[in-house]
Amino acid sequence: MRILCVLNEKGGVGKTTLCTTLAWHFVDTGKRVLAIDLDQQGNLTHTLLGNERGPCTALGLFVPNTKIEPAGPMTVAQSDADILDIEQTRDEEIPAAFRDNLRAADTDFDVCIIDTPPQLGIRVVAALIASHASVAPVDLGDYSLIGIKRMMEFQARVAAHFSVVGPEFYGLIASRFDRKSPRERALYEQLVEAAQEGVPIFPHAMTKRDPYARSSSERMPPWKMTGTAAREAAAEVRQVMAEFERRLLGP
Ligand SMILES: Nc1ncnc2c1ncn2[C@@H]1O[C@H](COP(=O)(O)OP(=O)(O)OP(=O)(O)O)[C@@H](O)[C@H]1O
Ligand SMILES: [Mg+2]
Repeated sequence: MRILCVLNEKGGVGKTTLCTTLAWHFVDTGKRVLAIDLDQQGNLTHTLLGNERGPCTALGLFVPNTKIEPAGPMTVAQSDADILDIEQTRDEEIPAAFRDNLRAADTDFDVCIIDTPPQLGIRVVAALIASHASVAPVDLGDYSLIGIKRMMEFQARVAAHFSVVGPEFYGLIASRFDRKSPRERALYEQLVEAAQEGVPIFPHAMTKRDPYARSSSERMPPWKMTGTAAREAAAEVRQVMAEFERRLLGP
């Protein structure tokens, strides 16, 4: 099982949208998927499960020796408000328990996607030490670049503290990018400059498109929607997904 953590402490930048799209993509390509919702807002849970609830909870993954039972092509470790309690613990074993539970499920799933809350706390620490790779969606607002350095330092500190190499950082993926906006294009240029200073940039963007926004309420990816806008979004996202698949699972 290959594990990808999606993070950014800034809210509303497209973390959950990327996670749901990846989860649908990997299910559609025949992979056994585990999707973990570490955010108390439960948006990933809502989009992937609707009003259904299964036996697997994200909170349970922080309890030592929790067995993750596969529930079909996609298993969702659902969020609830209690998941916030994890942030009150100072027990170093808590993130390790999460990592060990995922390791124990290594042969039961092919891909695991972890959605994280817009705060850099214990849950993100746990996700980082468990993951093989991480990626950070960013929007192109005025303040978005400020948090990026902090997030990269956070990842490095977590790796040093737990004496792990840390996940491979796939970099920043521009999300909700409005290519028609001169202002956003200028900010994108700033991102590209940051790349020259060692901040990796994911080579494809998910631009601002209605089908991405609709995917959460309609609970389906753009490639299952009809209409021109959906077809265009599907063509764009196919490239994004192919790049993730290549990096995460190999050629
Ligand atoms: N590429 C896109 N184009 C248009 N709308 C988008 C795009 N990506 C995300 N959205 C919309 O933007 C809003 C925020 O996206 P999302 O919930 O994925 O962000 P988030 O980073 O998970 O937020 P939070 O930090 O609150 O968890 C949602 O309404 C979503 O539908
Ligand atoms: Mg979210």
